[in-house]
Amino acid sequence: MSNIIMRTADNVMEWVNYRAPGLMPFYRKHMSEYYAPKNFNLWYIFGILATVVLVNQIVTGIFLTMHFKPSAAEAFASVEYIMRDVDGGNYIRYMHSTGASMFFIVVYLHMFRGLMYGSYQKPRELVWILGMLIYLVLMAEAFMGYVLPWGQMSYWGAKVIISLFGAIPYIGTSLTEWIMGDFNPGDATLNRFFALHVIAMPLVLLLLVVLHLGALHEVGSNNPDGVEIKKGPKGNRWSPTAPADGVPFHPYYTVKDTFFVGCFLIVAAFIMFFAPTFGGWFLEHDNFTEANPLVTPAHIKPVWYFTPYYAMLRVVPSFFGIKLWGVLVMFGAIVMLFLVPWLDKGKVKSIRYRGTLYKIMLAIFAISFVWLAKIGAGPGTDPVETIIGRVLTFLYFAFFITMPVWTKLDKTKPVPERVTMHD
Ligand code: HEM
Repeated sequence: MSNIIMRTADNVMEWVNYRAPGLMPFYRKHMSEYYAPKNFNLWYIFGILATVVLVNQIVTGIFLTMHFKPSAAEAFASVEYIMRDVDGGNYIRYMHSTGASMFFIVVYLHMFRGLMYGSYQKPRELVWILGMLIYLVLMAEAFMGYVLPWGQMSYWGAKVIISLFGAIPYIGTSLTEWIMGDFNPGDATLNRFFALHVIAMPLVLLLLVVLHLGALHEVGSNNPDGVEIKKGPKGNRWSPTAPADGVPFHPYYTVKDTFFVGCFLIVAAFIMFFAPTFGGWFLEHDNFTEANPLVTPAHIKPVWYFTPYYAMLRVVPSFFGIKLWGVLVMFGAIVMLFLVPWLDKGKVKSIRYRGTLYKIMLAIFAISFVWLAKIGAGPGTDPVETIIGRVLTFLYFAFFITMPVWTKLDKTKPVPERVTMHD
């Protein structure tokens, strides 16, 4: 039996190879002959996890679209219908909404890994830039998705965020109306957000992910030692010309990744089945009430993954009667991340060989970001918290602006010739 299967598989392969001779070399370049450093640790799992979540979002999104009605009059009820009457609809919806939060958890850890191991440094600047573009599109995608169920927080969140554009001098008001297609979020807003959320943004996201991986495979992966394996000795048991410290991505990392994807799915399933709203963090309680333009919720706040930026927006005071500063600081915080490859003047890549200064600064940055997230999720009425928020915003920016100085001053350790995990 197995002989017949093997022979059939061989025949199919031969048939395809004859007609598309470029496919096999492509597979070899990116899988069986892509030599990844052998010392990857758990931090290197998040790229694959992000890919898995992306697929989950697309598949569950397609099923949601089958029942969702993109109109201000019907959207909320259609989501309720999905939750109550469509077979398995509640699971599909929660897979999608929990998936959104899992996406950001995974992407934030993926980015933090990049900061720890200097994965953005030469020659991987393009990989980082493409990653940042993914992050931007992902934020737009998540924002528009949140508006679709047309709950209270969908409506008021959309109103607050789109109104930010109103702070831009001269064109602000017209721009806000142009984005909404109305004077307030309404049917036109919901319709266009639906179109962008289900087709335009996912296409851009997919394209960017392909480019991100393409750019990575051109230069090869970094690793926890920050050693370029392509510059090291050549020859391993698979090929005399491959980097000695590399292993074929398939089957070595496909097996390892499959195991950790399984672990991740168990955790994600646990959240989805037992705590899908995660205490109001993944789906806010206010969003289970239909949008009402006449009733403002007590605390308007975005979902947790936007709250660090939202906190910055709120704590920055308006100088000279101009409200734009908070908006500029918020967008500036993201611009800073784009610039990291050029701000870091360090001679080593990995945190393993950096000095104490780098570790302290990275810790300050991480603490500031998480603390700001907490402040942004709160009501924003405590004046002490506002002061703390200002200090944290200052520290966030200080991390980036002073980076050229402290990465240069930092006392680094000598980097080994090869990755530390070799026989
Ligand atoms: C949909 C979102 C994303 C997906 C699916 C994705 C996918 C991947 C995958 C599969 C890898 C290789 C495996 C790994 O190193 O973990 C990777 C590497 C990388 N990604 Fe992403 N990524 C995403 C977002 C981002 C973002 C937002 C950034 C940062 C701004 C980023 C920066 C990087 C960098 C610098 C590497 C190279 C890491 C190294 O070689 O050490 N990625 N990405």
